[in-house]
Amino acid sequence: MDSNEKKIALVTGGSRGIGAAIALEISKNYHVIINYNSNGEKAQELANRIIEMGGSAEIIRADVSKEEEVTAMFRHIKNTYKNLHLLVNNAGITADGYVMTMSLETWNKVINTNLTSVFLCTREALKIMYNAKTKGKIINMASVSGVMGHGGQANYSAAKGGVVALTKSIAKEVSDYGITVNAIAPGFIETDMVKKVPKATVDNVINSIPIKRVGKAEEVAKFAAYLAGDDAGYFTGKVFTIDGGMII
Ligand code: NAI
Repeated sequence: MDSNEKKIALVTGGSRGIGAAIALEISKNYHVIINYNSNGEKAQELANRIIEMGGSAEIIRADVSKEEEVTAMFRHIKNTYKNLHLLVNNAGITADGYVMTMSLETWNKVINTNLTSVFLCTREALKIMYNAKTKGKIINMASVSGVMGHGGQANYSAAKGGVVALTKSIAKEVSDYGITVNAIAPGFIETDMVKKVPKATVDNVINSIPIKRVGKAEEVAKFAAYLAGDDAGYFTGKVFTIDGGMII
């Protein structure tokens, strides 16, 4: 299918993990722009897979924590499509450690990549949606850590808590234009991000999850695709936890 016939979506950090699963899932209804920072080969493999499945996709490099790279990425989208219907702010990193020994550099890196990036991409996306009079959708990837806090992850929890507050605030700001903004707060999802967690810690976490297993990227992606669809028009400013019951 041609990109001209489809709505346009951008997924940040979309080359692997939850972002890649979302890109695949929404490609049934959207032309997918897969943003990546470093692994262009992996992003291209995913775009090829979407095209083989009958969809349309392209890749675009930008470090979403850097203002000039974000504005260049959105300039490309505006010049090419003059529109954007869906933004999935998915890119994120962890750099765990205790506050007492955390450097300002580590703090800033996590805040900039997980929170400032959401502000920057949302600002640029909203300009395109507003000018095109598009009732667009924004989906932000938060985390249960941002809702309930997590020792050893104060930087990440603060950033994701910021994403939750940003989601609610922007939802109120743009509801008059018909644009909706929601967040998904996953629990413990099996991706590269959690592969670096020691097995004993993983076992402990699983024990504390009522459903007694880690989640799958596809489970998050299917819900994101629902939120990205026409049937989800009456949600905004919401934070949906997908966590096997970690927060009840
Ligand atoms: P992942 O590490 O597999 O994927 C993260 C993606 O973001 C990667 O493709 C990475 O290259 C990209 N990225 C990182 N910094 C970037 C930057 N500056 N610019 C552009 N792209 C950048 O992790 P995963 O698990 O797929 O995470 C996706 C989102 O879900 C993240 O926001 C994460 O915080 C969130 N999340 C993940 C959970 C999990 O258990 N895996 C739990 C809760 C939230």
